[in-house]
Amino acid sequence: MTTALMVFHDRLRQSKVNRALAQRAAHEGDDVIVRDMYALYPDFRIDVDEEHRVCDAADRLAFLFPFYWYSAPALMKLWEDAVFTPGWAYGDGASIAGKRMLLAVTTGGAEDMYTADGKHGATMDALLLPYRTTARYLGLRYEEPFVVHGSSKTIDDDELARTAERFVRRLRD
Ligand SMILES: Cc1cc2nc3c(=O)[nH]c(=O)nc-3n(C[C@H](O)[C@H](O)[C@H](O)COP(=O)(O)O)c2cc1C
Repeated sequence: MTTALMVFHDRLRQSKVNRALAQRAAHEGDDVIVRDMYALYPDFRIDVDEEHRVCDAADRLAFLFPFYWYSAPALMKLWEDAVFTPGWAYGDGASIAGKRMLLAVTTGGAEDMYTADGKHGATMDALLLPYRTTARYLGLRYEEPFVVHGSSKTIDDDELARTAERFVRRLRD
């Protein structure tokens, strides 16, 4: 089982949670390919052929990112637009159907804020619907998202280490 873990954090060096999860995942060996997408594409010029090669070689496409305005950082949206091409992602000749897709999302807001009557007025499941729908359209097997709430403000080092262990267990599934 090979996972391509695409990390979309625009300031990964200053990040607490995404950085910890990415660093832990990088110790998983050959089964997990960790890619710092903002470092690879600082000018937003995505090498689509290279992305196709990386994804073709993986059984699971995993996306690790901080929740920004109830969505993903801009490069991740561009990646979807650029990389999910006809003839590769969908339509005649498409080849990615059947792969798994995992979202790993960190939020600033606490878990109880992400309920229908909580501060944000919506659940994570509802807010992540565009990704689930995209996976469905492409024939990807959408996995239960790995969500870390409250992130940098509330997580201490021990909890962060435990969270990183839980994350790599998901990657081994
Ligand atoms: C531009 C921007 C937008 C954000 N939007 C949200 C949001 O919509 N919901 C939320 O819970 N947190 C939001 N946050 C907080 C980040 O999700 C949070 O700081 C991040 O997940 C922490 O992870 P890190 O330690 O890896 O940076 C936002 C942060 C920034 C900088």
